[in-house]
This record gives sequence, C-alpha cells and structure tokens, in this order.
Amino acid sequence: MAWALREHPNLNVLINNAGIQRRIDLRAGEEALTGGDAEISTNLTAVLLPVLQSRPAAAVVNVGSGLGIVPVAAIPVYSATKAALHAYTRCLRHQLRGTSVRVFDVLPPAVDTELDQGARAARGETARTVSPEAVAEAFWQAWCRDQPVVAVGMVKVLLCMSRLAPDFIFTKLNSLVKL
Ligand SMILES: NC(=O)c1ccc[n+]([C@@H]2O[C@H](COP(=O)([O-])OP(=O)(O)OC[C@H]3O[C@@H](n4cnc5c(N)ncnc54)[C@H](OP(=O)(O)O)[C@@H]3O)[C@@H](O)[C@H]2O)c1
Repeated sequence: MAWALREHPNLNVLINNAGIQRRIDLRAGEEALTGGDAEISTNLTAVLLPVLQSRPAAAVVNVGSGLGIVPVAAIPVYSATKAALHAYTRCLRHQLRGTSVRVFDVLPPAVDTELDQGARAARGETARTVSPEAVAEAFWQAWCRDQPVVAVGMVKVLLCMSRLAPDFIFTKLNSLVKL
C-alpha cells in the first residue's frame, strides 16, 4: 500500500484482483492443505482499506467469484475464501455507507485466464469460460449504473438458485466438476 500511494499519490480506486485457486482433495489428509494459507491470505486477508476515505470520490472493487455463492467441493479453500470475501465486501459497503467510497463486489463465472489452468483443463472446463474483456465490460456497465453487486453471466443464475433451491444448485454444479 505504501508503494501504491508513493507511486500514485492521487490513488482513489483500489481493485483487489489477485487470487489463487487450488484443487484440494481434503480426504488426502493434512498434507493436501499445505499452501492453503497463501490461498487465504491472497484471496481474503490481503484485502486492505487504505486512506480512500479522505478522497472526494473513491472506490474499492473486490473481485470475488460465483464459487463464493455456490461452492465447488474440488476447490474447497478457494470457494470458502470467496464466500468470506462476499460477506466481507457486504460489511465493508455497509460500514462505508454515506462516505465517498463506493464498494463493488464483482462475481465472475469461469473466465479464460491463467487461473488454475492445469486442473481446469483436466476438468474440461475451458469451453465454458467467458473472456476477461466480458467481465471488465460487465463491471464497467455496473460502475456507470452505480450497481454494487456485479454478477456476471452464469453467476446471475447461481445467485438466484442459491436462494430458491440451494441444495439443487450445489448438487448440479458439483456434478459438472470432477472431484
Ligand atoms: N479465472 C476465473 O475463472 C475466475 C472466476 C471467478 C473469479 N476469478 C477471480 O479473478 C481474479 C483474477 O484471477 P485470474 O482469473 O485473472 O487469474 P490469473 O490469471 O491466475 O491471475 C491471478 C493474478 O493474481 C496475482 N497474484 C496471485 N497471488 C498474488 C500475491 N500473493 N500477491 C500479488 N499478486 C498475486 C498473479 O500475479 P503473478 O502472475 O505475478 O503471480 C496474477 O496476476 C482472482 O481474484 C480470481 O479468484 C477468476
């Protein structure tokens, strides 16, 4: 944060985008969780609120995931960190209501990036991804409309189904992803 403020003294928008995703077989015991701390610190606890409140207009943009709405069992720590980030972002927005800081919760579906490529290819997920540009465009439209929760593509369905039929959508999504 010190570096960012030094290099960009007028910084007023923070996009928390860094993320790690790991396939973990919890049945394999403690060893399978090695490295889980990095996943938690990068996806969740690295989210900082800097001195944005002193700016006349500012924003925090947290990049979550559809898996924070409906978890995938093969990716347990990732799903948990994104669920936690979703809750955290909601709390942050509530605490900052009435201030100059807007808080966005971006919830992408599977996106065609480098994220966990090996495991994703093994699961045959590559065909179901959207482009990073499509996510950026959806976010920009939401920014212009001042719409704080940005459910992109399939995540709109996940959000709706997680309220109407949570067990059904969990089972359905997990039937598509090999454990
Ligand atoms: N791809 C998807 O399907 C998908 C779906 C939903 C949400 N998301 C979310 O979108 C965000 C971006 O991911 P992506 O898909 O673009 O994945 P990506 O291509 O793997 O990029 C992840 C980025 O995070 C950075 N990063 C990882 N650990 C870091 C750390 N400890 N400190 C600083 N930077 C770190 C990486 O930097 P280096 O390259 O320098 O390591 C990389 O630039 C993540 O939050 C991810 O959870 C992705």
